Amino acid sequence: MENVLQILHDFQNNNPRNYLSQKDLTMIAKYLNVTHSSIYGVVSYYTLFSLKPRGKHIIRICNSPVCHMAGAKDIFTVLRENLKIGFGETTTEGLFTLESTECLGQCDQAPGMSVDETFYGNLTAKKIMPILKSYQE
Ligand code: FES
Repeated sequence: MENVLQILHDFQNNNPRNYLSQKDLTMIAKYLNVTHSSIYGVVSYYTLFSLKPRGKHIIRICNSPVCHMAGAKDIFTVLRENLKIGFGETTTEGLFTLESTECLGQCDQAPGMSVDETFYGNLTAKKIMPILKSYQE
């Protein structure tokens, strides 16, 4: 079980829909010689894993207090209006999924969000669209 997180990450990252299927969980459980429910428990615990198909890029908006007070709600509003999706939803072309998350560990740059593994801080409404465009090219 010691490599389970890395294995789950590898499976999820190699899935074009950015999630773990039940078939994946079964294969991983069999490989690690553990129960399906123990793998399911790990996946359910970590918000970085998804059991639902998602977009190619995952946008996570920090909703912890520091970012919240610094204007995370305005960042969400810009994203919602431009992408036409809410939290937990994926754009129709399958490019972006929008998620809410706890502290991203960069509170000194609040408000912040991440796109995949990249953090963006000191966000303002004007900074959002250029960031999104860089993923659309
Ligand atoms: S509170 Fe948002 S990064 Fe820490």
